[in-house]
Parts: sequence; C-alpha cells; structure tokens
Amino acid sequence: MDDVPNASEVRPPSFAHNAERMIPAPQLRSRGSATQLVVDGAPFLILGGELGNSSASSPESLSAVWPRVVAMGLNTVLLPVYWELIEPEEGHFDFTLLSIALAGARAHGLRLVLLWFGSWKNSMSTYVPSWVKTQRSRFPLAERTDGSRMEILSPFSEENVRADSRAFAALMRRLAQIDSRERTVILVQVENEVGMLEEAADRSPVARASFSAPVPSGLLARGPAGTWPEVFGERAEEAFMAYHLARYVDRVASAGKAEHPLPMFVNAALNRPGRVPGEYPSGGPLPHLFDVWRAGAPAIDFLSPDIYLPGFTRWCEAYRRPGHPLFIPEIANGPAAASQVFCAVGQYDAIGFSPFAIDTMADAAAAALKDSYGLLRELAHHVLDNQGTGRMGGAILDSEGPASEVRLGGAVLTLRHDYTFEWSGPARETTPWPTSGALVVATGPREYLVAGSGVIVTFADEERRRPLGFLQVDEGRFAGTHFVPGRRLNGDETHQGRHVRIPFGKCGLQRVRLYDY
Ligand code: DGJ
Repeated sequence: MDDVPNASEVRPPSFAHNAERMIPAPQLRSRGSATQLVVDGAPFLILGGELGNSSASSPESLSAVWPRVVAMGLNTVLLPVYWELIEPEEGHFDFTLLSIALAGARAHGLRLVLLWFGSWKNSMSTYVPSWVKTQRSRFPLAERTDGSRMEILSPFSEENVRADSRAFAALMRRLAQIDSRERTVILVQVENEVGMLEEAADRSPVARASFSAPVPSGLLARGPAGTWPEVFGERAEEAFMAYHLARYVDRVASAGKAEHPLPMFVNAALNRPGRVPGEYPSGGPLPHLFDVWRAGAPAIDFLSPDIYLPGFTRWCEAYRRPGHPLFIPEIANGPAAASQVFCAVGQYDAIGFSPFAIDTMADAAAAALKDSYGLLRELAHHVLDNQGTGRMGGAILDSEGPASEVRLGGAVLTLRHDYTFEWSGPARETTPWPTSGALVVATGPREYLVAGSGVIVTFADEERRRPLGFLQVDEGRFAGTHFVPGRRLNGDETHQGRHVRIPFGKCGLQRVRLYDY
C-alpha cells in the first residue's frame, strides 16, 4: 500500500468525461494510522446500504431500488450477484442483470459493491447453479461424522473450487470489459458469511485425512511445527476449517483479480459470546481467526463484520487494525444505524457503512439515516482529510454506555447521551435509551466540529483538566468546504456556557470555538 499525502474531498461519481481518460482502479492506501479507500484517485467514504437478498434478481425489482436509495442519500449500493443466474448452464454465462445494475447505478450517480453469492451464502450452498446441485458426486458436500450430508459445498474439493473460480473469473472478466472506464464497481465481496453451521467442521473422509496432516508451514510464522491440535489446542478444528475456507476463497478471489483487480473482502457472521463453533459459522473471518484468514487468503484485502449483535464498538475495534480498514457491509437497519455511522466514521476511520435490506428499511429509521448521510456528505472532506491523523473521534451513547471521553487537539471532550441532561427528566426514565451518536473533529487551535444527534459535549483542557469556555458556538452546514453559520447558540442552548448540545432526534452540526477563562 502506498502513502497518500493528502486526502481531498469526497466526490460524487462523475462519468461525463471518463470516455477520454482512464480512471485509476479503486485501491486501498495507508494514511497515518488509517487505511483509506481511494476511488477515482481520491479518498472516498462509502455511505451505503445493502439490498435485500433477492432484490437484484429481476430488472423490475432493481428499477424500484434506485429512486429509494437516491432519496436516502446513499452514494453506494451493495448488490448481490448470483452464481445460479450468471451460469444457469455450465460454461454458459448470462450477464444481463449485471449490465442492468451498472446502467441503473450510473444513471443515478451511484457506486456499486458487488457481493458474490457463489459457493457459500450464510454458510449454505443454496446459490450454486442447478447443475452443481444435481451432480453430487462431482461437487461434494461437507459431511457430518455419521456420513450424512450438509447443504454446504466441501472446501476440500478441487472440482468445487475450480467451478466457482471459473464463474467468478468470468464475472470479473465481463466487469473489466464494461467497467474499466467508468469504475462504477469499487469493491467486491467474495462469498457471503462463510463458515460451518450445525457442525464445527467438515468431517468427510477427505477432510479428516487433511486434519491429520501437519499444519501448513505458511500458518506457523510464530511457532513450532505440529498437528492442528498441537498448534491450536481446543480451537484446532475451527482453525483448520478457517484455513481451508480461506484457501478456497483465496483461489476464487485470485481468479477474479487476474481478470479485473479490484479490492476484495469477506464478511463475517459474528460469534455470539458463549456459543460454540457450529452454533455460529465456524471458521468464518472472525476476530479470533484473523491471523489464520490473513495467512490463508492473501488475495483478500480485508475482513469485515456484519453487525447484528450488541457490542458495536467492540466489533469495530476488533476489525480496525493496523494496515486494515474497518468496513461495515451489513448492520441491523433499525434506528440506531443513523447514530452508529458517526461513531464508525469518527472513531474508527471506517471506509464505509451499510445497513442491510436498505430497500425495505422502515420509514422512521430511513429518515434518520438520510439525515446522517446528508450531514456526512457535507462533512466528507473533513472526515477524509482527518482519517488516521488523531484529530477525529466519535462515540455512540445509550443506557449501557451513556458517556464517552475523546482526547483531541489538547482537550478532553466528554460526550454524554442527551437523556443524561437534567432538563430531560421524563425521557431519562425510559429504558433502554435509544442509541445516539456523534463525530467530533479538531479543526484548529481550540476549534471543533460536533456532528450527530442526541449528544451533549463538555470540553476541558487536557493538561490542567479545567473546563474550557465557549468563545462562540454556531449551528451551521457546509457549502462545499465553506462553513455557513446559522443560529449563534448561547444561553439555554449552551446551558449558560457549560456544554454544547444536539438534542435527541435532531441531526445537527455545530462549530465550537473555545477559550481558557
Ligand atoms: C446476513 C447475511 O449476510 C445477509 O445476506 C442476510 O441473510 C442477513 N444476514 C439477514 O439478516
């Protein structure tokens, strides 16, 4: 990865003059402590949403999607492409839906992230074409100990990985033909939520033979050679499956990259604490299997969490690593998403955020997300300029974690849920509190931007721990890079100089200038 000297403003896709010039391929680049997504040569923030599983399977259904997602302020749609529809007969490919998706996205100024529903989707192999499903001895399934089959292609079959790789390569070859100029597709997810369900491992004879072999040397960078149980102890079977799933995915991804080299990632169905492998998708790209996946699938650029469980910040921390960005391809599409996006982007330098089933999101949650995305579009230049610099932070706040501290620009910022504010007495009694969230940026000496909703922020000098006073607090919005102030906030609106506040249910931006009194 190269270093990017300076991030610049996020730009909506512009295709007008692309025919005359080659646009560089999307790529990942490091900047300070962050990894940025670079699209059309400039850092890019994915304000996305993932379509429901079947929404991209007919032209009519797809055409209904575009106006809705545009109205919600998305700049990117995560869209499945289905092996069963792309290769209905072996070796005969149909890319009609792909062309329609690209045309629709371009007509609406949107980027796409393709999701390859190939060998595995939510562990299972239901998206493989009929000719794969009906040739069982040629395309073997994983087996339980008693020899019964699971509807999961075995990762130990050469024929399985070859068939998937051929189809994925054909998809990427077509994409190279129809998208090398416009670059509408900026990322590709390979498979979907890979992992073994019901059983922790494939226990077919070929899998068992492989399990009794020594751990491959590529996985032993930090330790002595040995068998899977010797090297991985209690986690041996899961690590073994993770490695072989990763190797398979790596073959598929490499075949695709050879045709059209886009950044590629995998997504994880997270492991609920207290569950054992097989109760959650065993061997998926999970935090405790990160090293195994990185070693097994070097063609995969990053691993991503699908966040449907509690513990949002813990999952973000687990996936944002040195040289490895946080991208959230799926998150529950409830009202919390509109706040979580500020935290993901501000605190964890996320390259993108994408609630699941965006096309059927409930109206109130969709309206809140639209407000957040609208504000983040205005702020994108600040966000992208400050990724990896230590000048940006964020938090989510709820009844479990009603306050959070962020240290930025020589000050300690304490962010509290709006319900902690004494004037909001009745709301405080409501539990659980709805999630609120904010992003903060240090924009100059003693100057900050606060964006989000349902948040109260106090400021103290970091060294002396003394409260700082407000020189000026302005509500406002950005027109390009220019801050356009609205109301000057003071009096009750700053609690007589004690805090800034963006009330719950209102998405807002304030510029805060501080002084030492
Ligand atoms: C996670 C999967 O990745 C999605 O495709 C979808 O099945 C959702 N779960 C449903 O909640």
